[in-house]
Amino acid sequence: MSIDIAVVPVAGLGTRLLPATKSQPKEMLPVAKKPVVQYVVEELEGNGIKQILLVTGRSKTSIENHFDFDHELTRHLRETGKEELLPELEYERMRLQFFFTRQRKQKGLGDAIMCGQHYTQDQPFVVALGDSILGLNGSARVVQKMIEAYETQRPACVIATEEVPIESVSSYGVVAPASDDEVYSIVDLVEKPSVEEAPSNQVIAARYVFSPAIYQALAETKPGKQHEIQLTDAIKLLLDSGEKIMGVRVSPAEKRYDIGSFQSYFEAFVDFALADKELGSEFEEYLRRKFCGDH
Ligand code: UTP
Repeated sequence: MSIDIAVVPVAGLGTRLLPATKSQPKEMLPVAKKPVVQYVVEELEGNGIKQILLVTGRSKTSIENHFDFDHELTRHLRETGKEELLPELEYERMRLQFFFTRQRKQKGLGDAIMCGQHYTQDQPFVVALGDSILGLNGSARVVQKMIEAYETQRPACVIATEEVPIESVSSYGVVAPASDDEVYSIVDLVEKPSVEEAPSNQVIAARYVFSPAIYQALAETKPGKQHEIQLTDAIKLLLDSGEKIMGVRVSPAEKRYDIGSFQSYFEAFVDFALADKELGSEFEEYLRRKFCGDH
């Protein structure tokens, strides 16, 4: 049976987005018309995922509510003649089962993944970061390719990677690919290297497939900076112990939007607003008038 479980960590504190994230999850910030995590969940559904475990934390209940049926709202829209808005709630009917667990202390992404162990047990699973959108139109299929790579080659881990300008590598986990192929073996992994030390400009792009071996590696991973368990450190442990780790390159159309800082959030909002079918061209006109004085 193909991999159909995804773990989506959404428990982080999002301190880089304060005050916006003081009492609401960064994963619920709107990017144009939808909250970030809705894009992530729709992408997963489009890639054949059937069960989603959201690893949540305090102040994150709005995420659970967002994916639940809201019968009261539906009735209200019907009774007040606003039926035309009902399609906006169509996502509630996605063929997905949701499960929730809480990370009780924010001890890093690696620790959040560990919270899924009891749920995934001895099955392989996808991890999709709840604060990162791939592509503008929800058509990213890299997760499907990663699942295929996992099922044909049985590595311990498959990582989505994307190309960034070489001067940006020091913000990311950077991989050393064995070839230029779209699907390739990873020979090394360096967390936030300097430009000189970077083995390439292919960086980890928020989507993973893991065999259950990741749990043992996470258990052996020592806390890194800010006492957090870093997922990249655990993957490096797997690599160093001789396990096969693979990479799949995301296409330019699957560009990653990391809603982790205000800079990238602003960029994402503008790109998604411009791409909006209904309001995009009007918004573009507005920007043209503002910057070029066009009439
Ligand atoms: P980040 O690395 O951006 O961390 O999380 P953060 O804590 O949310 O943000 P800052 O650094 O304080 O601004 C990447 C993804 O991993 C989840 C986040 O919710 C986000 O989706 N995460 C991170 C957890 O689930 N638990 C953690 O302890 C840390």
